[in-house]
Amino acid sequence: MIKAITGTKDILPNEIPNWYNLEEIVKSTMNSFNYKEIRTPIFEETRLFSRGIGEATDIVSKEMYTFIDRSETSVTLKPEMTASVVRALIEHSLDKQFQLNKFFYISPMFRQERPQAGRFRQFHQFGAEALGSTSPALDAEMIILAYQILKKLGLSNFVVKINSLGIPSSRENYKSILQDYLKPHLHNLSEESKKRYETNILRLFDSKDERDQKIMENAPTLIEHLDEASLEHFNEIKEMLQVAEIPFEVDPKLVRGLDYYTHTTFELVSGSVGSQSALCGGGRYDLLVNQLGERDVPGIGFAAGIERILLAMENEKVISETQPQIDFYIVRLEKELTKKVFEIATKLRAKNTVEFDYSQRSVKAQMREANRLGATKVLMIGGDEFQRGTAVLKNMQDGSQEEILLAEIK
Ligand code: HAM
Repeated sequence: MIKAITGTKDILPNEIPNWYNLEEIVKSTMNSFNYKEIRTPIFEETRLFSRGIGEATDIVSKEMYTFIDRSETSVTLKPEMTASVVRALIEHSLDKQFQLNKFFYISPMFRQERPQAGRFRQFHQFGAEALGSTSPALDAEMIILAYQILKKLGLSNFVVKINSLGIPSSRENYKSILQDYLKPHLHNLSEESKKRYETNILRLFDSKDERDQKIMENAPTLIEHLDEASLEHFNEIKEMLQVAEIPFEVDPKLVRGLDYYTHTTFELVSGSVGSQSALCGGGRYDLLVNQLGERDVPGIGFAAGIERILLAMENEKVISETQPQIDFYIVRLEKELTKKVFEIATKLRAKNTVEFDYSQRSVKAQMREANRLGATKVLMIGGDEFQRGTAVLKNMQDGSQEEILLAEIK
């Protein structure tokens, strides 16, 4: 028996209405903020992600689906969209056409992580990227956009966390302060954190190890060591969020797992989905375009995990049960009328959702099926009515019936 690959899942027809609902809310909200949809290929050259996301990150060092294709090129299934969007911007010189480019996307992503509730190897993100401005208004807008989408989906049990990682020079300065603080504790750190102390020291704040967490509790934070311009940028965002009445928490430990961030980082974290609680994460990346294409275009964006959001909606009981609608179920009273039923169904399908029986079942069985499918009307073809050129139309909601002319059915 061949099964779906671990960490992937089928989205069955009964779940599809929830996906449609979410996608519609995403599209209409993105539209009202003037973000335009972009679709990029599922796979890219591996070096786009290793350069863009950072060699030392978990994603690049251990989670990418990478393979050598038949022309000896190393390609990778996209683990995130930001690097791809930046590549597309540079490749098509979109930054030269418009000063500000605002994109959104809905797409599958691939990461070989350990699967658990809310964590998959193929998952879906929607997200937004705005390239071309350093204005803190754009940082605030991005947070508000994510916030509004979750609210419109009906979620309420989540918090907005924000932080600033400043600019590289203040971050380098801070890293040595953090190193000095950690030196006497090094022998007590977990093996993973000992490694990260060398390669990616900020990620020690993300450690799930209790001993590490205890040590990090008293660690100096980056926000206490920000340069003046970064602090001002951060304060402006906070003011704008207050004006927009978006509740938020400053979390100095929010370092995020991708290397491209400068200044603002943020996450929208759910209280309804267990340990994989980040519904949405993002931040500013003013140096990424330069790193990938030697052009100075600042950017900011976020991405949200659709499976996690749907799980949160289920747990918060805000998923509405919608059944796909069947307008007509056609019941055939005599076997010989199959072709006639087929002809009427085809005609009606130009404007309606129509179903009929394909397996010569009894009239009773056909009526049961119409009920099971929740058809709003049943059209009965056959008997004396058929001889008279009419059919019986039954309204399944109130049980009433009427006779209609076959020639007038459309
Ligand atoms: P990220 O934090 O790696 O950021 O992912 C964003 C969101 O995708 C997470 O908050 C989570 O909801 C969802 N997600 C991530 N991994 C998985 C998984 N294995 N299974 C299910 N859901 C998952 C980024 O991807 C950045 N590109 C965000 C960004 C855009 N920053 C700037 N612009």
